[in-house]
Amino acid sequence: MKYVVAIAILSAALAANAGDVAAGKARSMICTSCHGANGISSSPMFPSLAGKKAEYLSQQLRDFKSGSRQNPSMSAMAAPLTPEDIENLAAYFSSLPAPIKPDSKTEPKACPQSKPSTASGDFLQVQGKNCAVESP
Ligand code: HEC
Repeated sequence: MKYVVAIAILSAALAANAGDVAAGKARSMICTSCHGANGISSSPMFPSLAGKKAEYLSQQLRDFKSGSRQNPSMSAMAAPLTPEDIENLAAYFSSLPAPIKPDSKTEPKACPQSKPSTASGDFLQVQGKNCAVESP
C-alpha cells in the first residue's frame, strides 16, 4: 500500500515536471564544476542544487538571466540558456537526491508530513532530526 502511494506521488511529481531530466543532465556538465557532482556542492560558496524544487531552480535561472537576481558567475552562466535549457536543468537537479546535512550522522528520513517551508525546498528540522524534504 505504501508503495502504491509512493508511486502515485512520484508519477504526479513527474507529470508536473515539464523539463527533460536527460537533456538537463547533458547540459549540466559545466554547472557541476561549481555546484558539485550530482548537484551537491562541497563549498559553502556554492549552493547545492540537488533536490530543490524545479520551479524554484528554474525561477532562479530566469532571474539570473534577466538580472533581477544578480551574481557575476551565475549571470554569465544563465545568459546563454534557452527557456528549454532552464526547464531541463531544473528538472535534472531537482530529480537528484538532496544532500545530507554534514551534522547528520544517520540516513535522512523522509518527513511524512513536511512541506517545504522555504522557497528553496531545503531541509526542515523535525524533532531535532534532519530529514530530506521530498519534492512535492
Ligand atoms: C563559476 C561557478 C558557477 C558555475 C559554473 C555555475 N554556478 Fe550556479 N551559482 C554559483 C554561485 C556562486 C551561486 C550563488 C549566487 C548567489 O549567491 O546569489 C549560484 C547559484 C545558482 C542557483 C541558485 C541556487 C539557490 O539555491 O538559490 C542556481 C539554480 C544555479 N546556480 C544553477 C546553475 C546552473 C544550472 C549552472 C550550469 C548552467 C550553474 N549554476 C553553473 C556559481 C556557479
